[in-house]
Amino acid sequence: MANQGVNQGRRRFLTASTAVVGAVGAGFAAVPFIKSWLPSARAEAAGAPVLADISKLEPGQKMTVEWRGKPVFVVKRTPEMLELLPKQDPRLRDPNSDVESQQPSFAKNPTRSLKPEIMVLVAICTHLGCVPEFKPEIGPQPFDHEWAGGFYCPCHKSRFDLAGRVYQGVPAPTNLVVPPYRFPDDHHVLIGEGPKEAA
Ligand code: FES
Repeated sequence: MANQGVNQGRRRFLTASTAVVGAVGAGFAAVPFIKSWLPSARAEAAGAPVLADISKLEPGQKMTVEWRGKPVFVVKRTPEMLELLPKQDPRLRDPNSDVESQQPSFAKNPTRSLKPEIMVLVAICTHLGCVPEFKPEIGPQPFDHEWAGGFYCPCHKSRFDLAGRVYQGVPAPTNLVVPPYRFPDDHHVLIGEGPKEAA
């Protein structure tokens, strides 16, 4: 009987061991599946569109979304900010977005956007690649006495307006890049894919 008890205990142990081995085996068996997922994860990091919820974005606010490993700013511009945009034109290097590489064709307009109130920009300074700071305050700043809100690069003092257009007399040569994007509905922006008609 005692022997039987040992045997039963051993059987239970073996059963438990087998279960563990089975679980480990399942773990190993899962590896090929995980591996088969990796390329698509890499593909996503390399370029798949990113969906951002903009429903909580208040006028004057900015949110940052990562796309292709880069920060992308989404800004909700106020009516006052929009009004000041055309007034910046004489101070800008490329007010009409003539440098084609800096935006998709759908954004070659006075607000460089699909909807005037929503600005979408790759937040990489076109000088040497620093991330510009969002400076929405309208009024004199230490770096610009006529500041109408925009982006200021702390690395070498480049300035961009609230459409990402570069000011004259700064090291950055071109406007900030507008990525392809579209609005699948009123609450989201899909970054990385342009509107169907603009594709
Ligand atoms: S990297 Fe922005 S001004 Fe040089």
